[in-house]
Amino acid sequence: MDLFQAMKERKSIRAFKPDPVERETIEAILDLAVSAPSAINLQPWEFTVVLGEEKARLSRKLVKAYREKQISCSPGNVKPLAPAFTARGVESFQTMKPILDRMGVDFNTFINEGSCNFYGAPAAIILCLDDSFSKARLVDMGITLGYLLLAAHAHGIWTCPIGLIAAYEDEVRDSLNIPENKEVVISVALGHPDWDSPINHFTSPRDTMDKFVRWID
Ligand SMILES: Cc1cc2nc3c(=O)[nH]c(=O)nc-3n(C[C@H](O)[C@H](O)[C@H](O)COP(=O)(O)O)c2cc1C
Repeated sequence: MDLFQAMKERKSIRAFKPDPVERETIEAILDLAVSAPSAINLQPWEFTVVLGEEKARLSRKLVKAYREKQISCSPGNVKPLAPAFTARGVESFQTMKPILDRMGVDFNTFINEGSCNFYGAPAAIILCLDDSFSKARLVDMGITLGYLLLAAHAHGIWTCPIGLIAAYEDEVRDSLNIPENKEVVISVALGHPDWDSPINHFTSPRDTMDKFVRWID
C-alpha cells in the first residue's frame, strides 16, 4: 500500500472482530516499527505482544481495575488547556457522542471500558520505556508508535492507540510480568474491524494545516 494512502486512510477502530491476527503479520509490523529513527539510535522502545487467552485475561483485569478506580481517558494536561485545544476535545466528543447514543451505549463506559478491553481486538501491543531514560525519549516512543500504526495499516490490520492503560500500569505490569523499571507508555489494539458497528464509521475531525503552522521566510 502507498504510504500516502495509509496515512490518509488510517483511523482508530473501536469495535474489532475476534478473528486473530497472524503472528507473522505482527512480526512484519514490528519489524517496520523498530526501523523508526531515535536519538543517538538508542532504540529505547520495548514491545510486549499479548494474544489469545492472555489478552482476554489482561482485558478482564483492566476492566475490573477501571470499574474500581474509575480513572478515565483524559488529556493529562498539567495546566488548564488553551481554549483552542479544549475546543478540539469538545468537537471530538460532540461528533462521536451521537453515534454512541444511537448505539444505545453510554459514552464514558464505551470509551473507558472499551479502551481497557482493547475494543475487543484479538491482539494488544504494550510499549514500554526503561526508566533510566529521560522523558525526552517519549518522542522516540511516539515515532515508533506512528510507524507501527502505519505499518499495521499497510498490512491490512487496523488499530487503536490506547493510552488509558498507562493509568493502570500496576495491573499491566502484574498481568504481563513487566519489571518495575519499565514505564508503560502506551498500547495499541490491533485486529480486523467490525464494519457493522457504527462507531467504526466515525472519522475524527482535523483542523487544517494552516492552523498549526507559522512560516518565517
Ligand atoms: C497517545 C494516544 C493515546 C490514545 N489513547 C486512547 C485511548 O485510551 N482510548 C481511545 O479510545 N483512543 C485513544 N487514542 C486514539 C485517539 O482518540 C485518536 O487517535 C484521535 O481521536 C484521532 O482519531 P483517529 O486516530 O481516528 O485519527 C489515543 C491516541 C493517541 C495518539
